[in-house]
Amino acid sequence: GSTLGAAASAQGRYFGTAVAANHLGEAQYASTLDTEFNSVTPENEMKWDATEPNKGSFTFTSADQIFTHAQSKGMKVRGHTLVWHSQLPGWVSGLSATDLRAAMNNHITQLMQHYKGKIYAWDVVNEAFQDGGNGARRSSPFQDKLGDGFIEEAFRTARTVDPDAKLCYNDYNTDGVNAKSTAVYNMVKDFKARGVPIDCVGFQGHFNSQSPVPSDFQANLQRFADLGVDVQLTELDIEGSGSAQAANYTKVVNGCLAVTRCTGITVWGITDKYSWRSSGTPLLFDNNYNKKDAYNAVLTALGGG
Ligand code: G3I
Repeated sequence: GSTLGAAASAQGRYFGTAVAANHLGEAQYASTLDTEFNSVTPENEMKWDATEPNKGSFTFTSADQIFTHAQSKGMKVRGHTLVWHSQLPGWVSGLSATDLRAAMNNHITQLMQHYKGKIYAWDVVNEAFQDGGNGARRSSPFQDKLGDGFIEEAFRTARTVDPDAKLCYNDYNTDGVNAKSTAVYNMVKDFKARGVPIDCVGFQGHFNSQSPVPSDFQANLQRFADLGVDVQLTELDIEGSGSAQAANYTKVVNGCLAVTRCTGITVWGITDKYSWRSSGTPLLFDNNYNKKDAYNAVLTALGGG
């Protein structure tokens, strides 16, 4: 294939990007999206603060804009994200444990029902583990009030609402073998052993000089896949430029392709000009939508061109 999506598709994978609803009206943004990608993840529009800013009152306007666009082009949609400590409206953290449990399950239910049968994969729980060496859970309203069981409960609820969606756990700094990724690994292993529904693990893949592509990236993906889950690169971006950046992208794509259960790659934005790393150039298209060396490297690694 001569596009990222077509080349990935020839390898049995998808190639996606994060999309922001407010850029869809920009002609080059939309045409690059439609030409190159066959999966989308709403960058912010499906998060709790965007979809349920006030208790029990749901709004899907921006999320639907992206969803409808993607659906009309036959793209997959990854739902991001149901339960996360960030971009969480203030009312949630004020709830008692009983009310928080009900609110969490209701939030999952309303979002998943709205898109029932039409979402490829949901990031059910995002970033529930701490950074650093001990593999502990991160403090959050969910963790602090409901305890370790909140993740399991979220996945069980999610399965009952939309049995067709793949249910993922998603995190960052878990791309290599380390204490944090091992804590996630142990959780997934336990879920599989006890029949807690989980289908996939998302590795965000935010790389820079402090957090480079790990040498054991592929081995780490493989150990998760060996537990019986799919693995995906969910938010890939790599700081840098030129051939060094391109080489890092090649490593990541090759790592995914070498793992049978690595089902797809999503980059965290189309063009450098809208990257969340406002001063960086971590993506595949430059500010003017020109293809970068990194783009050519990814296309080549996917066997396209
Ligand atoms: O929507 C408001 C707008 O009304 C306001 O005028 C403006 C002023 O700052 O802020 C806008 O909200 C911003 C939002 O993006 C939408 O643009 C927030 O300030 C800003 O914090 C938010 O950043 C997002 C970030 O998550 C928040 O945690 C980034 O766009 C988004 O790329 C980033 O994505 C996360 C993943 O969801 C999870 N993994 C890490 C990844 C990168 O941080």
